[in-house]
Amino acid sequence: MVSYPASMTAANDDNLMEKVVNLCKRRGFVFPSAEIYGGFRSTYDYGPLGASMLRNVKDAWWRSMVRLRDDVVGIDAAILSPAAVWEASGHLESFTDPLVDCRSCHERWRADQIDGVCPNCGSTDITEARAFNLMFKTHAGPVEEEATVAYLRPETAQGMFTNFANVLTTTRKRPPFGIAQVGKAFRNEITPQNFVFRTREFELMEMEYFVPPGEAPKWFDYWVAERFSWFSDLGIPPEMLRIRPHDADELSHYSLKTVDIEFAFPWGWGELEGVANRGDYDLNAHAKASGERLEVFDQATGERFVPYVIEPALGATRAMMAFLLAAYAEDEVAGEARTVLRLDWRLAPVQVAVLPLSRKEELEGLSRQVLTMLQPHYLCDYDVTQSIGRRYRRQDEVGTPWCVTVDFDSIDDRAVTVRDRDTTAQVRVPIEGLLDELAVRSGRPPQSVRM
Ligand code: GAP
Repeated sequence: MVSYPASMTAANDDNLMEKVVNLCKRRGFVFPSAEIYGGFRSTYDYGPLGASMLRNVKDAWWRSMVRLRDDVVGIDAAILSPAAVWEASGHLESFTDPLVDCRSCHERWRADQIDGVCPNCGSTDITEARAFNLMFKTHAGPVEEEATVAYLRPETAQGMFTNFANVLTTTRKRPPFGIAQVGKAFRNEITPQNFVFRTREFELMEMEYFVPPGEAPKWFDYWVAERFSWFSDLGIPPEMLRIRPHDADELSHYSLKTVDIEFAFPWGWGELEGVANRGDYDLNAHAKASGERLEVFDQATGERFVPYVIEPALGATRAMMAFLLAAYAEDEVAGEARTVLRLDWRLAPVQVAVLPLSRKEELEGLSRQVLTMLQPHYLCDYDVTQSIGRRYRRQDEVGTPWCVTVDFDSIDDRAVTVRDRDTTAQVRVPIEGLLDELAVRSGRPPQSVRM
């Protein structure tokens, strides 16, 4: 167990949200979209550090859900899909939120979020709720007629169901097995809010796990536990997570049972990930609408059956926000205040920063050799600007776990200093042992490489 200096963390900082949003903008994690045109409400672009971290979040998910398992395969389905898919899935009819208007200021709200009072002007003169479909509708091709209507997917899941038979035939997988996918999803949210928590365009990471119907409860519990551990393994303290079952009136139209893994956001507990038992709803719906048989043959009983589906579904962008909030801390180092992101090294947008002590040519030459040695193995930054102290602070603030400093002695002793972000401890390491040193620190297999 590592002990850190006394610090202000997610647990005790009232201004956490504002600080993290500012840091994201200032350091290039997240920018408001189309900012030079005044921005496009609640739409965000990921800057150099944000794009790197978001990729790490998705890679960590893919690694645990697909790569390290032999019972899950991945696909990458289209974002645009014909109306028939959403007609069959029930989204055209049921993927709605209750919309109300304030008759005084004409703002629109989600009825379940405002308790009968307009948050903008305080009026209680609110219209009756009506169902507002959250899907983005468009037209494929140049002719705008009903036959060309297409939708931007509001979930990636349907790609897994419509490809169920293709995957069965090409992989020979049989239940229990899963199909996973990571990709963009779009929802015309009535009230996008809280930074990247709820946006109209976001990234989803979903897995549909097909099981014999009788085994659904067992696999449901299994996936809730697995997904909870994934977050805590990547550094979210378990006390910032909780499991909340949905009430019957909260369930999505396809769900037999859902639990949310919730995170302690600065404004209170909020959904981080949902795990649902979708039963045989989707495969039956698509089989009926398409006329295809979407079922499997059970060798043991000699009968065909429609599997049930257990679905863990997580927003990559929302997950990134939770990891940032949980990692943010302020402490003091040598009497100086610092901001530090205590990100797990697998999520850090920069994993190793190579810092030559000065711009002298021979130091830069050696530093670049060190950089080239590290780059295939870690996400690296190279920084020669300003004092070494300022550079350490900058790296701490974006969560870089290790800084490697190349100084004048390095030229003679072929050694560098490795500084740890969390403890700020520094040790001298021979360059030829640097990859092994970092392997020990990151828990990777040792890897001796000579320069
Ligand atoms: N296929 C199931 C499904 O889509 P969901 O609970 O509607 O379930 C899954 O969404 C996850 O996607 C949520 O737990 C959340 O992490 C993320 N999510 C949903 N809507 C979002 C939005 N508007 N912006 C960002 N993330 C969102």
